[in-house]
Amino acid sequence: MANAEGTKLWGGRFVGNIDPIMEKFNASILTDQRMSAADIQGSKAYAKALEKAGLLTKSELDQILNGMDKISEEWSKGTFLIKEKDEDIHTAHERRLKELIGEAAGKLHTGRSRNDQVVTDLRIWLRDEISVVMGHLNKLIKTMVERAAVEIDILFPGYTHMQRAQPIRWSHWILSHATALTRDAERLEEIGRRTNVLPLGSGAIAGNPFQIDREFLRKELQFDTISLNSMDATSGRDFVAEILFWCSLCLIHLSKISEDLIIYSTKEFGFVTLSDAYSTGSSLMPQKKNADSLELIRSKAGHVFGRCSGFLMTLKGLPSTYNKDLQEDKGEVFESIDTITAVLQVAMGVISTLQVNEKAMKNALSPDMLATDLAYYLVRKKMPFREAHSASGKAVHLAESKGIEVNQLSLDELKTISPLFESDIAKVWNYANSVEQYTAAGGTARSSVALQVEQLRAWLKGRKST
Ligand code: ARG
Repeated sequence: MANAEGTKLWGGRFVGNIDPIMEKFNASILTDQRMSAADIQGSKAYAKALEKAGLLTKSELDQILNGMDKISEEWSKGTFLIKEKDEDIHTAHERRLKELIGEAAGKLHTGRSRNDQVVTDLRIWLRDEISVVMGHLNKLIKTMVERAAVEIDILFPGYTHMQRAQPIRWSHWILSHATALTRDAERLEEIGRRTNVLPLGSGAIAGNPFQIDREFLRKELQFDTISLNSMDATSGRDFVAEILFWCSLCLIHLSKISEDLIIYSTKEFGFVTLSDAYSTGSSLMPQKKNADSLELIRSKAGHVFGRCSGFLMTLKGLPSTYNKDLQEDKGEVFESIDTITAVLQVAMGVISTLQVNEKAMKNALSPDMLATDLAYYLVRKKMPFREAHSASGKAVHLAESKGIEVNQLSLDELKTISPLFESDIAKVWNYANSVEQYTAAGGTARSSVALQVEQLRAWLKGRKST
């Protein structure tokens, strides 16, 4: 019995029923229904192009456009009914269109394939989401820059290898992370450009035989350019791989910020206190205030990168042109975009409400962190750096062996290491002087940090979505 015929978009050739398990396995409607608005936009534009090419009458076009508007209304009212046999959003819409307007619905897919349709939908969906994500990202950067401007005089220990390294400005730390995020924003802009390329009019593999005006489609759907090659257009998922990598890298940057702040918020450090709005307590230990917001941000980087590497493995196994494996792209993109959207907003909340404990930061500075400054003191007195490094190391060792801090060594004791030490050595034992010497662009001197703030403000001004 040819009872499958007519119930499926591709029913004609098939005589047997599909195994219900296979039907469920094959369906993507639960995921791709999120692209319903993009699918309707694409179909309306395509119907107009068909009419322009003489494949639809004006009345058929009007019926299709009205039908698609009705479907759109059903989605917004929450009354669109997904039926068991709806394989994906494209088949669901065509099925519903037929119920609403009858036979004319059967003309909409002329020369179109779900292969060019689905990738058009995904590109529309993604480019719109990219501008939302960009807005959140720019807001976060702005918050960080303004916070850095206000707190420019707060000093605290800078760490390398998680060991006390040199005194720095707290603002320098904030801006180090803001700078990485500006690169993310620039990368996202480029990905946005590469996403905004129209594949519609590529058919299943070979192109479109019906004089479809692709330039018209491009304008209708507000794409920047049209794809060059139909085989590449229907199967190329570079833009998917790029956005998954982008989300991963941006989350890695946010994870790094989180990890620092988690450490800084421990009782041992006490540099910052997280606002209650972004912390939670323990069900058992009443004293606990946990930085759950930051821990979750840190964890998301791993999850999203898992999606990125998984999808690259999918691509790696494919021959050219469309293969059903590509259906799996959407779930990864939706999840990753949802994650980054939430994370950026939470990060912005955490950073704008964070309390900085200036005193604890200051108290954490210790004279051993000025050992480099001691070497630089000798360098300024013309000693070669290598020698100065060794002399300063000797001073640190001498202090350690006496059980005192390096700044407590007397001038006479220092002179046993080098005769270049004089009474002006006292000026070295000052954290503010220490940070102030890094005046070269990009350093932690006040003027240099202020310049970074200015440069980032100018960068933000030049952004479209701020
Ligand atoms: N649901 C499919 C996807 O997401 C649509 C394209 C199906 N194309 C096909 N030749 N079976 O990729």
